[in-house]
Amino acid sequence: MIDPISGFSKLEKEEKITWLSKTYLKGVENAPEILRQYWNPNSNLQQLHEEFTENTLSNYYLPFGIAPNFLINDFRYAIPMAIEESSVIAAASKAAKFWGKRGGFKAEVLGTKKVGQVHFMFSGDKDKLKEFFRQVKPVLLEAAEPLTRNMKKRGGGILNIELRDKTESLNDYHQLHCTFETKDSMGANFINSCLERFAETFKEQAHQYETFTASEKDIEIVMSILSNYVPECIVRAEVSCPVEQLADHDMTGEAFAGKFVRALKIAETEPFRAVTHNKGIMNGIDAVVLATGNDFRAVEAGVHAYACKDGSYSSLTHAEVRNGEFKFWMEIPLALGTVGGLTGLHPLSKIALEMLQNPTAEDLMKIVAVAGLAQNFAAVKSLITTGIQQGHMKMHLMNILNQLNATPEEKEKMVEHFKKHNVSHSAVEEALKNLRS
Ligand code: MEV
Repeated sequence: MIDPISGFSKLEKEEKITWLSKTYLKGVENAPEILRQYWNPNSNLQQLHEEFTENTLSNYYLPFGIAPNFLINDFRYAIPMAIEESSVIAAASKAAKFWGKRGGFKAEVLGTKKVGQVHFMFSGDKDKLKEFFRQVKPVLLEAAEPLTRNMKKRGGGILNIELRDKTESLNDYHQLHCTFETKDSMGANFINSCLERFAETFKEQAHQYETFTASEKDIEIVMSILSNYVPECIVRAEVSCPVEQLADHDMTGEAFAGKFVRALKIAETEPFRAVTHNKGIMNGIDAVVLATGNDFRAVEAGVHAYACKDGSYSSLTHAEVRNGEFKFWMEIPLALGTVGGLTGLHPLSKIALEMLQNPTAEDLMKIVAVAGLAQNFAAVKSLITTGIQQGHMKMHLMNILNQLNATPEEKEKMVEHFKKHNVSHSAVEEALKNLRS
């Protein structure tokens, strides 16, 4: 049994690596070197990365690439993507090119309301609680005033505080359900600070509220936290074109559109398919969210919750053919920021935002949604025509060749060879063996 270690966070980085190597990596001869080889030689940059989090030993690289030619609301973007999965950027680029020739993507922000809640327990007279809330609401807003000044200057702030009775789902459970406008910041810190101030003030005021009995005064604040579910912070992305323009290889435009719509209907009704379908959308979304220094876990959680909004997990995208016109669209919640957090700290996020012409949070919502829609279009297009493996394995070829330590010359020959052959791990192994012999 390995003994627990205390004071680990206080150790120097090298000491941490030594401890780790001796304790868990005994079988890896050069573990310290592997960790060190990813340190940035620029010590300031290395320190910046180390300070993003705790107990940092090294940096974990992800490829940072771009998908060019994205025509969105008549502006042509090159979209930055941080992603390790082969074929995602290629698929995005293909979809961008395809829709660029058919009028491009249209995107629109339908709402920007963020949510936070103070969860509390109250077991007394509900009418008294309602009256107390009515009286205390202006006091809560006033108490948060110093926290909201800057946000107000930027056009944001607290939108509303509602008292919600949740006792039907849990005994004594109530909330202050609060809504916010956070403009170009994602707003997590602003929202959480406001909520904690509300909670503190709410409790204090309850203690002083004479109409309450002693037990009613003793409201228990359980927690105060923003919600990553933002069903009113919504963006819509869409493409459309006459059906004839969808003709693909040996498929007529009508046949393609019909099959595409059927594939979407399956994802709308079948959760097993919907999860994978939406995963494809998130390939595009997460890559841009990550590249721009945003919180992809928050986005993931919120988007998947939204996919269940009608009672069962379903497709986020939809398609239809009406009067000879094919339309493909998606509405999703996205809480993003273009100021604050990592956006201004990580040099690559700064470059990514610069590349996108320093977008507002609303612009970024549109770009991210389009990346998701494009990704889904490319995936479903492959699935209903050639199948996914053809393109995927071509892209995967490089990964296999790298695993097999192919030289640059061998790679070149193998790429040529696999233009005419199907890629599989064993086929690449075999072909490389033949080449080497
Ligand atoms: C793979 O990362 C994503 C896909 O499975 C998405 C889909 O099936 O629609 C190709």
